[in-house]
This record gives sequence, structure tokens and C-alpha cells, in this order.
Amino acid sequence: MTEEAPPSLSAALRPVLPSPLQETGDERFTSRGLRLLLKRDDLIHPDLPGNKWRKLAPNLKAAAGRPVVTFGGAYSNHLRAVAAAGRLLGFDTVGVVRGDELAGRPLNPSLAQCAADGMRLHFTDRAAYRAKRDPAVLARILREAAGDIAPDEVYVVPEGGSNALAALGCADLGRELGGELGRAGGDALVVGVACGTGGTLAGLAAGLPRGGRAIGFPVLRGGFLGEEIHAIQRAAFGGPAGNWSLDERFHFGGYARTPPVLDAFAADFEQRHGLAVERLYVAKMLYGLTALAEEGAFPPGAAVTAVITGRPAP
Ligand SMILES: Cc1ncc(COP(=O)(O)O)c(C=O)c1O
Repeated sequence: MTEEAPPSLSAALRPVLPSPLQETGDERFTSRGLRLLLKRDDLIHPDLPGNKWRKLAPNLKAAAGRPVVTFGGAYSNHLRAVAAAGRLLGFDTVGVVRGDELAGRPLNPSLAQCAADGMRLHFTDRAAYRAKRDPAVLARILREAAGDIAPDEVYVVPEGGSNALAALGCADLGRELGGELGRAGGDALVVGVACGTGGTLAGLAAGLPRGGRAIGFPVLRGGFLGEEIHAIQRAAFGGPAGNWSLDERFHFGGYARTPPVLDAFAADFEQRHGLAVERLYVAKMLYGLTALAEEGAFPPGAAVTAVITGRPAP
């Protein structure tokens, strides 16, 4: 909720909004009478890039300075963003990390960055992590993770930052695109976004103008995401919102799998367009959109817009 972020948040973090929209002239699209545009959400903020800003800004406003507890895997972009926000805005952060076997090992660079930003890390076993939506399990995790902070004083942000407020924040992305490309009209505005927990797609679709549609490219295997997105939309908007679909063909084996064919595609895209392509999410979405263009899936004249939701990890 860009406009409604409290002055302290926007003043301290100075997001670049609306994010730039760039025409690529990519011939795999232009040769078919299509445009490929890049919505550069990765440029919104150096520490809270892309969907991290859009999802976290309304949640940090709701947290109102309380300690924030959140969840993620050992390489989670979301954990890094929450830790950085805590450092920049001066609130406590606790990261619950999947996998208690990591507890005794040296921190990987991503978790080391979280710790350097002041995040308290708590490693939890995978069974408890999976069951964290069960209120009793969550209460136990919070008791163990929060240490001297009273569990009822913390603000809990779910894994990946996807909740109703996050979807409301991501609806701004759809509205921005509507303002920038709404003139494309009809079925000519097609927006691609990579999906992990689905909050970004849930909000984006809701904010798009009538006639616009969003395609989500899940990076995890499993086919469970559609129901998750419906649940997020029910919580945020009271029911289904906007025109969206999922194309489940481009996960490349699952989360964090980046086979050579994907890497080659991403390296080529970087050469063509001078964009550093984040491999775990953004590369899969760009590959999917390009494959769909080659399959003839878009109507002539369509403004195919790729949301660049993040940057390669440092
Ligand atoms: C770079 C990037 N793109 C896309 C996503 C997917 O977002 P969501 O979990 O809202 O589906 C993530 C995960 O948060 C991400 O880090």
C-alpha cells in the first residue's frame, strides 16, 4: 500500500515508486507482434527489492515497531529483507529457520547477513516447521524462538511474507501497471510473475485493470498453490479477485533447481537486455513467458510484462 505507508517507513527507506517500466524490443516477442516489457520492481529498494517491499511495507506498518518474527529456509530472500528492515527501522527481528540440523554449523552467507543485521536466528526441526500453522505448534515455536521477548508482544509475518496485508500491498503493483499500460486495453495486458507462496500473484491480479490478466509461474513442484492463492485472496479481498492462472510447467525440477538449460537461457537474457537475472524465481518466469510467446499463447499486440521481483543474491 504504497501511498499509505507511514511517513517514517517511506522517509527512512525511500522506495523508488512507481518502479521503472522498460521496453525490451526482444525479437522473440516483436517478431510475433508482441511487446516484452520489464517491470523493474527489483529497483524499488536495495535491501527490500521487488515483492519484498510491496509485501512488507503494509506489515511493518501494522507491526508498529513491535518485534517481528518470521520464517524461512536457509537461503530465504524474505528473511534477509526482514532483517534489513529491522536494522534500517530499528525494530527487533527473529528468524525461524527450517532445519535444526543447521544449528551447529557455520552460517551460510544469507543467514550471516541476517545475523549481521541483528536478526536472532532460531533453527527449528522440519516437522515443527511444516506444522507451524497449527496454533499450538506456532505457540511453542514462538516461545522457543523469542527468548526474552513475550510471545504475545511479537508481530508474526508468515513464511515468504504472504498474508492478506501483503496481497493488499501487491495490488499496488497491478494498479501501477494499469496506469502505465491500461491503454493496451482488452486482453492485451498480460503480466507474468514467479510464485513461491503466491501472495504476490494474489495481490497483483486483484490490482490489474479489467481485461488485464496475470500468469503465475510456480518455482516449486506440487500443484498446491492455486488453493493457497484463493485463501490469500479470500482473506485480503473477501473472495476471488482479478483474472489469473498458473502455468506449472516451468519449475525446472523444483525450488533452487537451476539446470544448465535454465542457466543458459538466463545468461543469454542478461546479454540481450543487460539485466542481472535472479535464477531461482525470475529466470523461470522469463523462460515461461518466452516459451508461451513461442507457442503463440498471446494475442497479437499484447503487452507482455515480466515482473522482475528480485535481484541475484549478493
Ligand atoms: C525474487 C522472488 N520472486 C518471487 C517470489 C515469489 O513471491 P510469492 O512468495 O509472493 O509467490 C519470491 C519469494 O518471495 C522471490 O524472492
